[in-house]
Amino acid sequence: MSGTTGVPLARITGTGRYLPEQIMSNADLEKLVETSDEWIRTRTGIRERRIAPVGVTAADMGAEAGRRALRDAGVDAADVDMIIVSTATPDRLLPSTACDVQALLGSPRAGAYDFSTACSGFPYGLSIAQGHIAAGHAETVLVVCTEKMSSIVDWTDRTTCVLFGDGAGAAVVQRGAESSGRILSSFMKSDGTLAELLYRPAGGVRIPIDSTVLETRTHTLKMAGPEVFKSAVRSMCEAAEGAIHRAGLKPEQIDYLIPHQANLRIIEATARYAGVPMEKVFVNVDRYGNMSSASLAVAFDEARESGFVTPGSLALLVAFGAGFTWAANVVQL
Ligand code: ACO
Repeated sequence: MSGTTGVPLARITGTGRYLPEQIMSNADLEKLVETSDEWIRTRTGIRERRIAPVGVTAADMGAEAGRRALRDAGVDAADVDMIIVSTATPDRLLPSTACDVQALLGSPRAGAYDFSTACSGFPYGLSIAQGHIAAGHAETVLVVCTEKMSSIVDWTDRTTCVLFGDGAGAAVVQRGAESSGRILSSFMKSDGTLAELLYRPAGGVRIPIDSTVLETRTHTLKMAGPEVFKSAVRSMCEAAEGAIHRAGLKPEQIDYLIPHQANLRIIEATARYAGVPMEKVFVNVDRYGNMSSASLAVAFDEARESGFVTPGSLALLVAFGAGFTWAANVVQL
């Protein structure tokens, strides 16, 4: 049950996703803010995104993605030891969304907590799950990434509202010696000095919600787009390199790149740097926009289900998010 370093092996044994049915197209956005389908497509690659209705929570979406991942893995919810939830859009500030997911799934013996690394949530989550298994805390960990971004964007701000969408993705990580699904390496990094390039200024303890906050919309997401763009490319390249190195591999041994889906131009730049041709890069940003941490979880599930990635091959998962945080894993499929 141990790898060459003596660390117990962790494998992804199932994945799942949930996407709300309602589609918001670029043409729909043209009616809300001064923008155009042409601008959004050429600057970002996004054509449409999903929007969850009022009343559907991050926990509802996360639990459904989790249920589907457990079904895929053939694991009963009652046998989950730990539920970890990545979300930038928690349903409440207290308690965690993970506890709501635990209740919805009915996992009586699971520990549950949220973690906050924004768009990097899926590779951070896989790494954390690997850690729980290595430490002997858990045999089966459910990693859930769920985001209702439509609830935190400023729908009057064209520089951000066109970029985001809602959805959830999940993965089951279990102890096991088999090679399929094995997490070969993890890389995680951060730079908190850049926090204010992508953040929600108010709504927490530092600036509590009051009427001024609501008037000035400082509880919604603010982003310095071009600065974030440059850091995203640099960081995703560093994470990719780090995860490949820690797996003891050379870049040319990577078969597929499954990156965070924020912007097609960031994906193309990362692929160029990693030396992976675009036909080996999974892209769904055109259909869902940026779903923060759910983006990579959903992309990984779709890549597996659609047969885009083949069993036995090596995939590089890489993401970048608010914080800033960046992370990557090499996974054997
Ligand atoms: N429609 C039309 N025009 C627009 C829009 C819009 N929706 N948004 C901005 N513009 C205008 C700007 O006002 C500007 O006009 P100006 O030249 O008259 O001032 C012009 O378009 C160019 O704006 P830029 O911001 O320089 O455009 P850029 O090419 O940098 O693209 C974008 C903007 C798409 C936001 C890009 O910078 C980007 O993708 N950044 C990274 C975003 C990202 O990855 N964020 C997520 C990180 S993950 C997380 O944790 C959530």
